Amino acid sequence: MKYDIKITKTTEPKNKPQDESKLGFGKVFTDHMFIMDYNDEQGWHDGRIVPFGPMPIHPASTVLHYGAEIFEGMKAYRTVDNEICLFRPMDNIRRLNDSAERLCLPLLDEEGCLDILKTIVEIEKDWVPKAEGTSLYLRPYMFGNDPHLGVHAVHNATFVVICSPVGAYYAEGINPVKIAIESTDVRAVKGGTGYAKCGGNYAASLRAGQKAELAGYTQVLWLDGVHRKYIEEVGSMNVMFKVDGKIITPELTGSVLPGVTRRSCIALLKEWGYEVEERLFSVQELFEAAKNGKLEEAWGTGTAAVVSPIGQLFYEGEAYTVSNNLIGEVTQKLYDNLTGIQWGKIKDEHNWIVKVCNG
Ligand code: COI
Repeated sequence: MKYDIKITKTTEPKNKPQDESKLGFGKVFTDHMFIMDYNDEQGWHDGRIVPFGPMPIHPASTVLHYGAEIFEGMKAYRTVDNEICLFRPMDNIRRLNDSAERLCLPLLDEEGCLDILKTIVEIEKDWVPKAEGTSLYLRPYMFGNDPHLGVHAVHNATFVVICSPVGAYYAEGINPVKIAIESTDVRAVKGGTGYAKCGGNYAASLRAGQKAELAGYTQVLWLDGVHRKYIEEVGSMNVMFKVDGKIITPELTGSVLPGVTRRSCIALLKEWGYEVEERLFSVQELFEAAKNGKLEEAWGTGTAAVVSPIGQLFYEGEAYTVSNNLIGEVTQKLYDNLTGIQWGKIKDEHNWIVKVCNG
């Protein structure tokens, strides 16, 4: 089912970034955005693409008081053949609906949502950057928008898509990042919202993230909220380790985000013949492996982070260097293959790529 989309083009197009090597992440926005409203009577209605800019919001809106917000992160790529493509968009759309279900927000028709994404990307296609390592990041998000203060599942919601040309998420680029393992704060617990991509999970992570940054670390690695023992995920990415030839990644226990990049990396690793263990992996087991010289590589996976090597892990006063603080062989192979598929340099044998339009 397609949603009706009314298109109002800007009369004041902005200049596009001149130096794409300086894009960074999420600082520049395109000329347009998509907005659609929901209420119980009309369902999703009034889909519109409008000039990018501030949105009025009722001061009592649910999202401002109770944090009813979910989002996705996905990218449009300009391939070597100058086509504009999305990577596994239905996976993100399904996860958006899973998040909506958890937060009692209204679901979207999945094909309709894909059509929205393709429509805004086609309108903004000249904003999809060309430089190596760049893409147009899409941030679809939905929030509860009831204009009153009772704590209830909402009857009004808003769905928005904004677009931002981006380069690397981390200032380090593809160089290894330093990660601090957090032992005080927790991000999520089973039964909570850990598997959903909701703003609240990220709000809960900010204090530990700030502490880590002040201590010179790029991000936090979270442990499970019950035993404070099992590795879950890093602030903006899932995490994988190569230990004694095998790949270990935390299983999806309910408090870990089911990453689309995680899923894609697992598929590639298995095709290359690696044994991939999705299981509980304790921080003690990790450091045991590090001390015995069996921790060969560590990396994160995520839409924004792509595949990011981890060069140092810090936990309760001790720092462990991984892979001599260099990008490991498997990490590099994953990065090259994943981005190779995304940028059309490597044949897509998985049907992961969805073409939007010619560039
Ligand atoms: C993404 O990888 O797209 C994310 O949403 C992570 C983020 C919070 C920057």
